[in-house]
Amino acid sequence: MQQIIDQLTAQAGAALAAAGDRQSLAAFWQEYLSRNGKVAGLMKELRNVAPEERPAAGKIINECKARLTADYEAAAARIEAAELARRNAAEAVDITLPAKRRALGGLHPITLVKNQIIDVFAGMGFEVYEGPEIEDDDHNFTRLNVPRNHPARDMQDTFYVTDDLLLRTQTSPGQIRTMDAEKPPIKVLVPGRVFRSDSDATHSPMFHQMEGLVVDKGITLCDLQGMLDKLVQALFDESAHTRLRPSYFPFTEPSVEVDVSCCECGGKGCPLCKGTGWIEVLGGGVVNRKVLENCGIDPDVYSGIAFGIGIERIAMLKYGINNIGLLFENDLRFLRQFQE
Ligand code: DAH
Repeated sequence: MQQIIDQLTAQAGAALAAAGDRQSLAAFWQEYLSRNGKVAGLMKELRNVAPEERPAAGKIINECKARLTADYEAAAARIEAAELARRNAAEAVDITLPAKRRALGGLHPITLVKNQIIDVFAGMGFEVYEGPEIEDDDHNFTRLNVPRNHPARDMQDTFYVTDDLLLRTQTSPGQIRTMDAEKPPIKVLVPGRVFRSDSDATHSPMFHQMEGLVVDKGITLCDLQGMLDKLVQALFDESAHTRLRPSYFPFTEPSVEVDVSCCECGGKGCPLCKGTGWIEVLGGGVVNRKVLENCGIDPDVYSGIAFGIGIERIAMLKYGINNIGLLFENDLRFLRQFQE
């Protein structure tokens, strides 16, 4: 019996040592330790052992079973640990790897220019007001001194919604709305979308303007030029300055067209400024007395200056964009160039 057991123990030891996973372990248990296994088989063999030898034989079979069970459990623990280690290795995350970069959006060039203009004037104490995009005739034209049938209406090709409602053609109605709501002193900027039936390489039916209005005692055209010099220096460069040319707008008197010294050649003359050294950037002037009166402000006490800037125009000059359509197509290859 001892011999048989030694043999069985040796076999079992080899099988356990070779067991590398749960399946072979389960097969081992089935073969040696289950109810129909080899150890149970030995127990059955006891019948054939002489009665006086049975207790001793039974004892060594039981010892064999205890040893194999302990060995089996040790092997199970070893395999379990190995599998855990394997799984951990497979699922390991290398926290030292650099993270994937998330693509960040950027501001649209129109927004960049708009924010820059607001920054300059906010520094001079201006507030920002935004009026409605659907305006009435009264605010967009009549109270800005452009009565019905006035030829100045032809300066802007208007989208009418009804006889009396239209898509605002300019941000200037923001002047009227501000003066209706506030008493002087007034310093306000009115950014926003405006609409005109007009479309080519430099005109879009929807574009952006920034209106500026100052109303106080003793305001003159010099204040306008001083502020605009500061603006063009911030937008273009330190040496930029402005020139005023006489012009006509119904809501200002006198009216001026404002040129900036050419940002490309500094004033010497180049293709961008068509050899003149100057580039027209905006319109403005001294607020027409009639406009102040239309808003209940006494023009003998107060005076004002106003200006209107085309934001696309500034963006095109500043960034060297030759077609206004690029600003509205949302082609990422174009827009990514403005990411800061
Ligand atoms: N509203 C004018 C336009 O769209 C621009 C303008 C000119 C605005 C003179 C003003 C101004 O406030 O004083 O053409």
